[in-house]
Amino acid sequence: MYRKTYALINNDILEQNVKNIKEKYNDYKYYIGVVKNNAYNHGIHIIPSLIKGGINYLAVSSLDEALEIRKYYLDIPILILEPIDLEDVEVACKNDITISVENLDYVKELVTKKYKKELKIHMIINSGMNRLGFQNKEDINETYKLIQEKDNMVLEGLFTHFATSGFMDPYYDEAINKIDELISDLDLSSIPIIHFARSLTLIRHDKCKYTTGIRLGILMYGYNSIIKYSTSFQDYLRCKKRESYLKKYNISNTYLENDLKVKPAFSLYSKVISIREVKKDEIVGYDAKYKALEDMLVATIPIGYADGVTKEFGNVSINKKKYKILNDCMDMIMVEVDNTVKINDEVEIFGSVISQEEVCKNLGTNAYHLYSSISNRVVRVHIENNEKSEIKY
Ligand SMILES: Cc1ncc(COP(=O)(O)O)c(C=O)c1O
Repeated sequence: MYRKTYALINNDILEQNVKNIKEKYNDYKYYIGVVKNNAYNHGIHIIPSLIKGGINYLAVSSLDEALEIRKYYLDIPILILEPIDLEDVEVACKNDITISVENLDYVKELVTKKYKKELKIHMIINSGMNRLGFQNKEDINETYKLIQEKDNMVLEGLFTHFATSGFMDPYYDEAINKIDELISDLDLSSIPIIHFARSLTLIRHDKCKYTTGIRLGILMYGYNSIIKYSTSFQDYLRCKKRESYLKKYNISNTYLENDLKVKPAFSLYSKVISIREVKKDEIVGYDAKYKALEDMLVATIPIGYADGVTKEFGNVSINKKKYKILNDCMDMIMVEVDNTVKINDEVEIFGSVISQEEVCKNLGTNAYHLYSSISNRVVRVHIENNEKSEIKY
């Protein structure tokens, strides 16, 4: 790495996060680590640490992502969460990759094919999100039957994806009722992996009956969502609003708080490459979008919007002190600093002094979007047992 802009990914933290999740939510057989989008942009080489923590299945969004992981990790089962083209199923099967099915016409075609190896299939049920999945009981029953009848195909799993965490709306409870009804004719004991919960539904609700697996995404990456109402008037109103929703929709038991310990493992760094004096009324950066209100020192940092960082991030931290981002370019940002800052000083974009929550708040977004926005131009430095390894994805 010559440009000293990198994401530090702490694999040990990820391993511990998985261990802590498993310890608290211990009633499952399958802990499915969602590692789509290059493991929420942490980099797929966190996978051995996830496995050490207790992940025993992986989930991705496409065959391309699955094959990339399969190049390095031969034994772990991988599920593709979206349907793939029928003509690509052979490739999935050959590489021991599990496919998802979500409509009967596709399944009818699928069962006419012969594959050299056993094909593992998970059935997606639409429980109300209206993105993917079967939504008709007859189609579900027929799919079950068609797959069960085939020697070289196995219906290994069944899953749904909840649209909301349901702490203030009726949709989670409606989804549970809907799915109960849709799968009521199936012999669920013949399907080993039934997985409904994603991170937020896992922490908000009691275990869904029949489920033997959970899909862990953002929780595994260190983002726990605890809702605590303070004594402020605004929170009083929020609390009252929720109480009225609970009554109105008869919402089932929901946990707002939990004692689960998980920590973010992703932090982002760069360094100061230039410092200059800027006089009052001079501009900084493109389009005169920032004009100095007084004489100041401006440091330039080699990370920009092509890396996923913009002035809307708000501040950076240098030597544990926060400094305001004045403007951004494709490859650099400019920051107002003081005379304690020197060329080559390390700059934290977020990590310990500047939390991810702070950046998300400034951006008006959440951790999913924040991680996704950091581009692959940024080298990932994985740290494990105090050893660092640099990976360019
Ligand atoms: C089908 C599916 N399952 C699981 C997840 C993981 O969700 P989370 O990160 O909220 O745990 C996702 C994420 O988008 C998803 O699309």
